Amino acid sequence: MPRLENKIALVTGGARGIGAAIARAFREEGATVIVTDIDVEAGRALAREIGATFARLDVSSEEDWAKMAERFPVLDVLVNNAGVTGFEGAVDGLPPAHDPENGRLADWRAVHAVNTDGTFLGCRYAIRAMRARRAGSIINISSRSGLVGVPMAAAYAASKAAIRNHTKSVALYCAGQGLAIRCNSIHPAAIMTPMWEPMLGTGPDRAEREAAMVADTPMRRFGDATEVAALAVMLASDEAAYMTGAELTIDGGLLAGSAATPGD
Ligand SMILES: NC(=O)c1ccc[n+]([C@@H]2O[C@H](COP(=O)([O-])OP(=O)(O)OC[C@H]3O[C@@H](n4cnc5c(N)ncnc54)[C@H](O)[C@@H]3O)[C@@H](O)[C@H]2O)c1
Repeated sequence: MPRLENKIALVTGGARGIGAAIARAFREEGATVIVTDIDVEAGRALAREIGATFARLDVSSEEDWAKMAERFPVLDVLVNNAGVTGFEGAVDGLPPAHDPENGRLADWRAVHAVNTDGTFLGCRYAIRAMRARRAGSIINISSRSGLVGVPMAAAYAASKAAIRNHTKSVALYCAGQGLAIRCNSIHPAAIMTPMWEPMLGTGPDRAEREAAMVADTPMRRFGDATEVAALAVMLASDEAAYMTGAELTIDGGLLAGSAATPGD
């Protein structure tokens, strides 16, 4: 029997990458899926392909979330997946600085508007939309970067840490209200998606760059978006009925140890 039968699931940033893999896996498990994104063309194409509904949703917009509440007032699963690193908006060919000394407040805020505000607004919408059935699963896509410092991507790291912590507040709030609405965070690292394209490039050194980026990963490879999707399916399903406030890493072992390993 499909694991998500009779569940209505909304995925943010679902047009590509991890979000698209989750939307696809949810459909395969029998869920009714709403793919949302700001990329209307790619979002519509995916929705058509997998038999889902598409809705345009900028997660940083309170107005857009209000439209979701009107159009989809009842929900079983929400995946707060949309996220930005802050390196998307290159000025004069150079990405903005995101280190703690040179970062601009506007760039810091732009990252938080999507990652932090987007997750807050998503959780608020989901709790209200899940009250009808007094149950549901909210899955927040944080990052390995939400658990450690990242000097050159400080806004991203801080926003992902905020997502990790807000997940626990939401979990405790819902349990305290006597609701079976669960909220958990997933912490991926180095998952091969279009997010990495600007860093990998298309030059002859692409394979070399790829290897260098996972040189510190114990499993020495990038993860696949379908591997994150498998975890999301489990959290969305009733198999995870007793899991809430948890943080699950999926990182090829990266956070299992540390660089300093006495005895090596
Ligand atoms: N790929 C990785 O290695 C990795 C590692 C850790 C965490 N993550 C997290 O996983 C999530 C998905 O990452 P990905 O690698 O698939 O990224 P991606 O860049 O391939 O896809 C992100 C999607 O989010 C959408 N999006 C961006 N801003 C939005 C907004 N304001 N409103 C709605 N949609 C918006 C984009 O259009 C895109 O479709 C992100 O939260 C990311 O931080 C990814």
